[in-house]
Amino acid sequence: MSGNKSGLNEITPYIYGTTRLGDQKLPRTERLKVAHAAMNSGVWFHTSRMYGDALEVLGEAFAEEPAKVPKLIIKIGWDNINQLRGVIEENLVPLGLNGVQLGQLCLSGGLANDFANGGHCYKVFQDLKDEGLVQGYLVEAFPWTSEPSLKALRAGYTQGIIDGYIFYLNPLQRFASNQFWDEIVERKQPIVAMRTVSGGPVHNLRDIPGFAWKDYLQKRAVEVVPIFEKSEVKSWTEFCVRFAHSFPLVKATVGSTSKIENLAEFLTAKNHIDPLPESIIQEIVALHRRWSDEYDIHAVPWTM
Ligand SMILES: NC(=O)c1ccc[n+]([C@@H]2O[C@H](COP(=O)([O-])OP(=O)(O)OC[C@H]3O[C@@H](n4cnc5c(N)ncnc54)[C@H](OP(=O)(O)O)[C@@H]3O)[C@@H](O)[C@H]2O)c1
Repeated sequence: MSGNKSGLNEITPYIYGTTRLGDQKLPRTERLKVAHAAMNSGVWFHTSRMYGDALEVLGEAFAEEPAKVPKLIIKIGWDNINQLRGVIEENLVPLGLNGVQLGQLCLSGGLANDFANGGHCYKVFQDLKDEGLVQGYLVEAFPWTSEPSLKALRAGYTQGIIDGYIFYLNPLQRFASNQFWDEIVERKQPIVAMRTVSGGPVHNLRDIPGFAWKDYLQKRAVEVVPIFEKSEVKSWTEFCVRFAHSFPLVKATVGSTSKIENLAEFLTAKNHIDPLPESIIQEIVALHRRWSDEYDIHAVPWTM
C-alpha cells in the first residue's frame, strides 16, 4: 500500500451498507428514499450482487441524482481469477457506473491459493485497476478464510496492491482470527469494520428470542450488555461507531438500515467520534480473543 495512492483516500468514517436496500419485503419507494438520504449525506456505500435487488435500487437512485453518486465498495471474487472481471461488470451494469473505488476481494478455492502463493492474481488485480474498474482492494476475512491472507501478508505479496482488510469488527464479532488480527496490527494494515451495530440493539439481541441471527450472538450479547451499560453511552449506535473507531487502524465502519431515523443515528454518531474509554475496549478485546479461539476458528464455514 502506498500512502497517497491508496484507494482508501477520503473514505468516510461511516459507510452505508446496502443489505437492507435489497429487502423486497419493504416497499421499493421506501428503500429509494433511504438510498437518497444516504446519498445526500455524502458517505461511501458498500454493496454486492448478493443483496437482493439492492444494485437495481441503487442504479435507479443514481440515475435520479447523478451528482450525488457515492463512492463504493463492491464485493468481488470468488474462486477463480477469470471470474473477477465478470463479477465487477455484474455490479457496474445495474449501478450504471464505469468503475468503483474499492473491490472487496472474497477469496476461496484456487483464487485464495493463488493469492496465498503470490500468483498471477496480483497481475490481474493491477490490470483491473489500470483499466479504472476499481481504484483499490480490500481483502475480506472470515475466521475460516484468514489463513491464505495471513500467508500472503507475511510474504509481502500484498504490498503495493492491497489497501487494507475488511471483516466483521463490532462489539460482538471480530472475524479475523487471533493470529491474523495480530499480524494486521503488527503491520499497521488499514481496516474497514463491518456490521456496525452487530445486527441490532444489544438488549434486543440478548432478550428477544430469535432476534439474534444465531445463538452465539445472543450469548455474546449477555456478556456485552453489562459493559455497554457501564460505559453510560446512551445509544448503542453511538457506542458501536465509537467502538470501531477506538482502533486506530479502523478507517470506517459499515452499518445498514432501511429506516431514515436509524440512518440519522448513524450519521449523528459519525459526526463526532470519540474513542471509548480504554478499559471498555480492553474488556471487549479480551472477549474477542476468547471467542475467536473457543468458537470462531472451529466454526463450520458460513455458519456464523
Ligand atoms: N461479507 C460481507 O461482505 C458482509 C457481511 C455482512 C455485512 N456486510 C456489510 O455490512 C453492512 C452491515 O451489516 P448488517 O446489516 O449485517 O449489520 P448491522 O449494520 O450491524 O445491522 C443492521 C440491522 O440493524 C438494524 N438497525 C440499524 N440501526 C438501528 C437502530 N438505530 N435501531 C434499531 N435497529 C437498527 C437494521 O434494521 P432496520 O433496517 O430496521 O434499521 C438492520 O436490521 C451490510 O449492509 C453490508 O454492506 C458485508
